Amino acid sequence: MGVGVLGTGHYAPDNIVTNKDLEKIVDTTDEWIRSRTGIEERRIAKDDEDSSDMAFMAAERALENANVKAEELDLILVATVTPDTPFPSVSCMIQERLGATKAAAMDVGAACAGFMYGMITAQQFIKTNAYQKILIVGVDKLSKIIDWTDRNTCVLLGDGAGAVVLGKVSEGKGILSFELGADGSGGKELYQNEANHLVMNGREVFKFAVRQMPQSCVNVIEKAGLNKEDVDYLVPHQANIRIMEAARQRLGIAEDRMAKTVQNYGNNSSASIPIALSESVNKGIIKDNDIIVLVGFGGGLTWGAVALKWGK
Ligand code: ACO
Repeated sequence: MGVGVLGTGHYAPDNIVTNKDLEKIVDTTDEWIRSRTGIEERRIAKDDEDSSDMAFMAAERALENANVKAEELDLILVATVTPDTPFPSVSCMIQERLGATKAAAMDVGAACAGFMYGMITAQQFIKTNAYQKILIVGVDKLSKIIDWTDRNTCVLLGDGAGAVVLGKVSEGKGILSFELGADGSGGKELYQNEANHLVMNGREVFKFAVRQMPQSCVNVIEKAGLNKEDVDYLVPHQANIRIMEAARQRLGIAEDRMAKTVQNYGNNSSASIPIALSESVNKGIIKDNDIIVLVGFGGGLTWGAVALKWGK
């Protein structure tokens, strides 16, 4: 048996903040943001909508899409760096709201690579037969930690949640290979400061990302015994179109074979990969037996990639 995706779901707050809106609060322009990042607008949650609320919405949709009942879940993993509170965890909060009474629950923190860490952690439990069905949610309400006076960061980020249900699939399908990595020496390039604001050295993170993301894609393709030409679809972390393009061009795949949501959502941190995956599934872009590569990088520094064959 393989371990693969049984269903996907996502949620983004209604409130749209455009680049023009940001021109009114910091010294920036729509043209600068579009040309440097590809971002046109982002969703920002209301004060009374926290990470657990968005996680719950995405989780419900993923369970419905997977045709799995909450009571069937063995484990809930929530990747987030902006939980409602350090404890109880977001995973415990949604365990209660979903009625997933049998599920163990924990949060995973690896910033924008958190969803990849969650997915691979879940895979191990299923592979060893310890668990059958696991919900993985990537959620962040980055607006809570954005310094709205810092044009270097506030234009890049947004709020949202994405989820998948992982379980057993037919032999040969599901996760084929993975890579997870970390470099703590790069922690100073992207962190939360004492004022609880996200601080980033954009140039250093950019250099790291354009090197690491394409390399991780190549590594998982090789580990799966595949060639670049075998890849049907790429779902990269949606931080900056220029970084995403570096990965796409390294793989030599067509523009329409890469998930692209950055223009609508900005960088959703832990949520960006599952949102992009879920949107692609909803649009019918991903087909049975497609070879998909998911890849992310983030604060820590951390990174992670997965090659998988779609279908049950
Ligand atoms: N509007 C206008 N000008 C700006 C803005 C803005 N919003 N932000 C920065 N600038 C200015 C800078 O101050 C700089 O001015 P200077 O030359 O006078 O110093 C100039 O624009 C150019 O800055 P660069 O850093 O060279 O711009 P670059 O083309 O590298 O783009 C960016 C900056 C978009 C931040 C890029 O470096 C990047 O995408 N980095 C990676 C970001 C990322 O992926 N982060 C992941 C976060 S993951 C997580 O865990 C949340």
